[in-house]
Amino acid sequence: METISFYGIVLMKRVLSGIQPSGELHLGNYFGMMSRMIKYQNENDLFCFIVNYHALTTIQDKDRLMNNTINAAMDFMSLGLDPEKSTFWIQSDVPQVCESTWLLSNIVNLGLLDRSTSYKDKLSKGLTANLGLYSYPVLMASDILLFGGEIVPVGQDQKQHLEITRDIATRFNNIYGEVFVIPEPDIEKSTKLIPGIDGQKMSKSYGNTIPIFGEEKNIRKKFMSIVTDSTDIQKPKDTDTALFHLFSLFLNKSEKEELADRFMTPGMRYGDIKQELFECFWSYFEPFREKRIYLENHKDFVFDSLKSGAAKASLVGDDYLNKARNAMGLNLE
Ligand code: TRP
Repeated sequence: METISFYGIVLMKRVLSGIQPSGELHLGNYFGMMSRMIKYQNENDLFCFIVNYHALTTIQDKDRLMNNTINAAMDFMSLGLDPEKSTFWIQSDVPQVCESTWLLSNIVNLGLLDRSTSYKDKLSKGLTANLGLYSYPVLMASDILLFGGEIVPVGQDQKQHLEITRDIATRFNNIYGEVFVIPEPDIEKSTKLIPGIDGQKMSKSYGNTIPIFGEEKNIRKKFMSIVTDSTDIQKPKDTDTALFHLFSLFLNKSEKEELADRFMTPGMRYGDIKQELFECFWSYFEPFREKRIYLENHKDFVFDSLKSGAAKASLVGDDYLNKARNAMGLNLE
C-alpha cells in the first residue's frame, strides 16, 4: 500500500480491522486478514481489535468467550502483531463503540440489514435471530467509523459489511455534515478464497478449518484429509483444487509454477503433496509457536499491552464520538 508523503512528512494511513474470537484461529483467518495486518503495522497506523461484543451474538458461555478472546489476542501477538507499533485492544475495553452504534442505528434502513448475506446465512444454519445478530453490521460500522479507519483489510466474506459501513457513513455525513471517514475495503485478490479441507471456503461454521496452533498429530491429520479427486495416477491433475490452492499460500510465483508442473506430470501422488504441504506449513509457523508458548507464560504482559491499546483507542474514539454527538445535537451548547 502506498503511503503519502507531504513536504517530507509521511502521512500514514489508518489501517483498521477486527477479528472474531470464535475459537481456534485458522489458516483462513491468517491468510485472509491477519498476515496482511501484521505487514501493514510497519508503514501504517494500524488499529486492530478482538471483537468480543460481536462474538456475543453467537457465544453465550462466559468461560468460552473469555478463553477465546485471550487466545485470539495471544495468537495475533505470536504471529507478529506488535502492540508497540500498533494499537491493539479488546473491543469491549472501549465501550464507547456501543454508544456510537446507537447513534448510527437511527440512520440505518432495515432493508440494508435484511439484505445482509451473513445474517441470512447464520439464520439458515439455525442460529436464533436475536437483535444483536441482526444489527451486527451496525456495530461493525461503528467499529470502523469511531476510529477513523481508512483502509480495512478483510476476507472476501466481509465485503458486503464494508459496503454497509460506507453506506452508513455517507448517509450520516449527508445528514449531519462531514464527521466520518468513508473507509476502503482491502481484499487481497490472490487470497480471495481460502478453501477448507472439504474444498468449500475455510470457515469455522463449516467445520473444515486447519488451525494455526495445535497438536502436530492433529494438524497433520487435517492436511492428510484435504479432499482430492480420483483422477488416475497417470493422468494430469486439476490445479483448481483445494490442495493446490492451499499449497500456493506458502509459495512464491516460480514455486507455484513448479507445483503446477508436478500436477501436470503423470505419476504424482496426492498423498506425497499433502505430506510436503504439511512440512511446509509446520516449518513456516515454527517461530510463531515458540512465541505463543512464551506469551502463554507471560499473560500479564499480554493483558497490559491490551489495556494500553484500549487507552490509545479510547482517545481517538472519544474524539469521533464527540464530533458525532455535537453534530446530532446531543451535547448541550
Ligand atoms: N465481521 C468481521 C468478521 O467476522 C469482524 C469485524 C468486526 C470487523 N468489526 C470489524 C472487521 C471492523 C473489520 C473491521 O470477520
